[in-house]
Amino acid sequence: MRIIVTKDYNDMSRKAANIISAQIITKPDCVLGLATGSSPVGAYKTLVDWYKKGDLDFSEVTTVNLDEYRGLTHSNDQSYYYFMNDNLFSHVNIDPAHTHIPDGTEPDAQKACDDFEAIVKNCGGTDLQLLGLGHNGHIGFNEPAEDFPKFTHCVDLTESTIQANARFFDKPEDVPTQAYTMGIGTIMRAKRILLIASGKDKSAIVKEALFGPVRPQVPASILQLHPDVTVVLDEEAASCL
Ligand code: GLP
Repeated sequence: MRIIVTKDYNDMSRKAANIISAQIITKPDCVLGLATGSSPVGAYKTLVDWYKKGDLDFSEVTTVNLDEYRGLTHSNDQSYYYFMNDNLFSHVNIDPAHTHIPDGTEPDAQKACDDFEAIVKNCGGTDLQLLGLGHNGHIGFNEPAEDFPKFTHCVDLTESTIQANARFFDKPEDVPTQAYTMGIGTIMRAKRILLIASGKDKSAIVKEALFGPVRPQVPASILQLHPDVTVVLDEEAASCL
């Protein structure tokens, strides 16, 4: 595991974008595993800037996203489908047919998850998986649990996650209570992993995930067992190391 400590969020974002762009340049038809949340927004902005300058070409890139809320339409601005288009896909020359996100509009959870797992497999595997880190150590929507889920599955969101999301919705009943997420196994099958985290509020869980015991109660701790992980932190997130 390589740990890179950067000055601040902008510096973290630029380093992460450097690693992602190096992947695209060295393998133009790579499969990128992408994440949502606030952590990757700066990296996506930087990639869009470099694309606009003519330094990057997404025409052969395939993407698979970690997760999606169950039951939100594509036009809902809280869906990860909307987020990815808004932050990256609509600004670069990626082929929309090559972008894959678990289908939150599919009510049959088993079908949605099996279909998505098959897509990841049929892409030939993920070359580089980008990850953010939840405050409780979750990656994707793999919340602390008694075991490490192997495949894409449907999760019941924890009460704290539901409450944290409530501010983004008009009515409490609109807040999603479930999500489809890659399993820990799906994530660990990626050839390389890039974990990013910033801010003081992530410092304790960063330490626990990277140096604590490997256990499903801290889902990100499994990354210690992956052979090719790069972690990019800002100084605040690294402050407990
Ligand atoms: C959500 C997403 C995760 C993300 C996490 C952290 O739960 N499902 O993929 O990593 O939030 O979000 P943030 O980057 O905003 O701290």
